[in-house]
Amino acid sequence: MKTVLITGANKGIGYETARRLAAQGFHVFVGARNASAGRKAAEAIAKSGAKATFLQLDVSEPESVIAAAGEFAKFADHLDVLVNNAGILLDRDSVLLTISDDLIQKTLETNTLGPLRVARTFAPLLAKSSAPRVINVSSLAGQLTGGAHAWAPAYSISKTALNGVTSQLAVALPKCAVNSVSPGWVRTEMGGAGATHSVEEGADTIVWLATDAPQNLTGSFLRDREPIPW
Ligand SMILES: NC(=O)c1ccc[n+]([C@@H]2O[C@H](COP(=O)([O-])OP(=O)(O)OC[C@H]3O[C@@H](n4cnc5c(N)ncnc54)[C@H](OP(=O)(O)O)[C@@H]3O)[C@@H](O)[C@H]2O)c1
Repeated sequence: MKTVLITGANKGIGYETARRLAAQGFHVFVGARNASAGRKAAEAIAKSGAKATFLQLDVSEPESVIAAAGEFAKFADHLDVLVNNAGILLDRDSVLLTISDDLIQKTLETNTLGPLRVARTFAPLLAKSSAPRVINVSSLAGQLTGGAHAWAPAYSISKTALNGVTSQLAVALPKCAVNSVSPGWVRTEMGGAGATHSVEEGADTIVWLATDAPQNLTGSFLRDREPIPW
């Protein structure tokens, strides 16, 4: 059975990705930092007869990631797909010249170092897959082409750096397809009710990369199933 770990899968784009991949026959590991929300999400997915297991995982805490890999190994001996979806957009992330170091560090810890940490820790389990894939959920806010916008500078920098992590991981894990995705502006707690995309649309390229995308597509930044400039 194919296995997938999705971080921050208790709600939003992560939950929708988990639901869709479970429906396609994956054993889905529902990563969540909040145990009750994570368990509830895994139970809701499993109700349809799919295989979903809650995995407590705070991507900003090294010990939590190590513990999660140990827990994962009790259920499965390999990981086929890692979706680094967990992300934060902090209040007060508004003006580059006045935001605090603390806000920037917290944002980088979760959005940039978190995905690298999870990929590094689960790399031995990914190595046991015949066609491993890592999908980093990034953002157009991190795209350098066209120049920056003034919106959410710490978040934007963290996603630019996440794209750097994707590019580096694609070299460090040559057997693995490693890509970044822009999901679009999606109606979630982060995106808000006025966003242009549904969660189904937001999860589409992520699900495609987890399942049908060519294995030799790696080191790219994608939107709507197509590579876009960094
Ligand atoms: N929505 C958009 O318009 C949009 C656009 C571009 C990119 N994205 C990206 O898409 C991804 C998913 O966002 P979303 O819109 O679905 O947001 P969301 O509804 O706010 O969900 C974010 C998820 O990340 C989890 N999370 C945050 N920090 C975490 C940590 N340290 N460890 C583990 N989990 C953590 C949250 O857990 P809790 O429930 O415990 O907070 C939640 O499950 C993010 O990476 C985001 O940057 C979103």
